[in-house]
Amino acid sequence: MKIDDKTAEQVAKLSEKFKNSGQDLSSYLDGLLYDRYLTYWDYIHLDTLLSLQNPKTHFPDETIFIGYHQITEIYFKLVIHELKQIIDDKLQQADFFRKKVERVNRYFRILIDSFDVMIMGMEREQFLKFRMSLLPASGFQSAQFRMIEIYSTPLENLIHPSVRDQFSEKNSVEELFENTYWKRGGIDLETKEKTLTLKQFEYRYTPRFIRIANEVANSTLYHKYEQLPVSEKNNELLIKELKKLDVNVNVNWLLMHMGAAHRYLNKEGKTIEATGGTNWKTFLPPSFQKVHFFPNLWSQTEKDNWGKEWVTHTFNT
Ligand code: HEM
Repeated sequence: MKIDDKTAEQVAKLSEKFKNSGQDLSSYLDGLLYDRYLTYWDYIHLDTLLSLQNPKTHFPDETIFIGYHQITEIYFKLVIHELKQIIDDKLQQADFFRKKVERVNRYFRILIDSFDVMIMGMEREQFLKFRMSLLPASGFQSAQFRMIEIYSTPLENLIHPSVRDQFSEKNSVEELFENTYWKRGGIDLETKEKTLTLKQFEYRYTPRFIRIANEVANSTLYHKYEQLPVSEKNNELLIKELKKLDVNVNVNWLLMHMGAAHRYLNKEGKTIEATGGTNWKTFLPPSFQKVHFFPNLWSQTEKDNWGKEWVTHTFNT
């Protein structure tokens, strides 16, 4: 058998590679010979993926509810994948930073645009019934949503707005974490006790949240932006993209999400209790939470009016 030059060169390179790591090329070539061809369904683990939508009730629309939550969590995973690359970056170039944030904004744009799958895409009567079988679970317990916050901004910026000015980077990570805005949402208004939804979430994820918060204590997106050389920091396109991220996560996604809560949990002015037990009408609105990942990029007036309306101006791409 005649081996062409290109193949001979490839074999030589492979031989070198395996020799350098003390491995035997010939054995690996045998492996290649016996390997099955890769299929699409094996590569993306399709059977596993499609086996994960398991409704708890017989209401058909519960499958939509589960599927869309899973889709969102996969997008959150892709968001975190980009955020981590910015955090690990040492080059400090505005262009690299911006391109990664653009990706994150693209994912959030898709999530915002598609939220009507929840708002319009299920029968209210079915929703109000199947939700009773998933108590006390709530999207409130989405750990990846909390991680996006922790990777994006220092914990001081996530403190409940009513006491935010009493905390700073001088407080310990544990103290700051205990006072994050969303923990307030998990307090039963009558008993002042933590709800079961919050207790379970804390038990499952606190060590991980604290570990991540310590890891990124000086390298959240906020820090990475502040640490850029002045010339890169003044990059208009980067600033625009960071502001867009702030608005996407902390205003527009929250407003879309609140639309779902209104459609399903608000009837003729009567508020239906949420599965997570928050007083959702005062917990969910972005104008009450007032979370900004990049407070330094906004004017005081912009921060005062935060979340009062859908933000489109200057951000359309
Ligand atoms: C019909 C659809 C939905 C309704 C009615 C709804 C309702 C609610 C309510 C009432 C809360 C407040 C916590 C509570 O008391 O349970 C909440 C929180 C939350 N939900 Fe949903 N939700 C829906 C869909 C989703 C989806 C698809 C996601 C995607 C993961 C999600 C993620 C979240 C998150 C991250 C929070 C915490 C928000 C924050 O801290 O500001 N929700 N949801």
